[in-house]
Amino acid sequence: MKRFENKVAIVTGAASGIGRATAIKFAEEGARVVLADIGDFSDILNEFEKFLIPNSQFLIQKCNIGERADVVNLINTTVETFGHLDYAVNCAGIAGKVSKPVHEYPEEDWLQQIQINLIGTWYCVKFQLEQMMKQGGGNIVCVSSAAGLVGQPENSPYAASKHGVNGLVKSAAIEYATKNIRINAICPTAIETPMIMHGRRKLAENPEALQQAINFQRMKRMGHPDEVADVALWLCSDQSSFITGHCMAVDGGAFA
Ligand SMILES: NC(=O)c1ccc[n+]([C@@H]2O[C@H](COP(=O)([O-])OP(=O)(O)OC[C@H]3O[C@@H](n4cnc5c(N)ncnc54)[C@H](O)[C@@H]3O)[C@@H](O)[C@H]2O)c1
Repeated sequence: MKRFENKVAIVTGAASGIGRATAIKFAEEGARVVLADIGDFSDILNEFEKFLIPNSQFLIQKCNIGERADVVNLINTTVETFGHLDYAVNCAGIAGKVSKPVHEYPEEDWLQQIQINLIGTWYCVKFQLEQMMKQGGGNIVCVSSAAGLVGQPENSPYAASKHGVNGLVKSAAIEYATKNIRINAICPTAIETPMIMHGRRKLAENPEALQQAINFQRMKRMGHPDEVADVALWLCSDQSSFITGHCMAVDGGAFA
């Protein structure tokens, strides 16, 4: 029997990076997976085909987590299709477009990061909890960031949104600790995904910034999306049954 056989998992941000790796691992370990994303699903669908994941085992759901109605629809469709919701790994998120100090940061970008990373994650957690309360249990993991643990110069909206996610996770963990619902956050440093390679710091085009990002970890390398996905699945599993409200650095020793 596979570890997540007969279980149902939502993964937001499933089309790319950490969410993609998490969705593949859930499917490989037997879960029925709801792939939620605002983007293009063609790459993850190819992967599912490669791993011979049957169509009956997954559902594609176009969803902007920053829109309340989309998130309500995501949870409702999941339950209509698969009957219940055991796990949610909330990976969907955005990085800032620019590096600027607080007083110069473009207001529109500031608000958008809060809308997606914090308010969008809150919508997900809120409606996932509502369903898990109806069922009598469940398990949520939010992919936050090292920028949720310490400040990040010239990246204040991202850091503020991720500190917010950690506050949400810790508060919810206490509220639901006796309700058979666990909720934890993962706080990665640099993980090699499209966000970091082509996002704000464009590491793919900037060897100096790339080396800086690599050196930040004591292991002198970036993390792989699979290394975050493994932690997410472990936090969902019974192997972490006494852990809730934790904001876990996945950082190659950066904060040691
Ligand atoms: N890569 C890193 O170094 C790193 C470090 C720390 C934290 N994180 C966090 O990990 C999470 C995943 O990031 P990633 O590195 O895999 O990035 P990524 O860009 O590869 O993947 C993010 C996915 O989220 C989706 N998404 C964006 N906005 C959305 C929305 N409004 N609704 C639904 N889906 C949306 C994108 O389409 C994309 O598929 C993010 O929350 C990010 O902040 C990443």
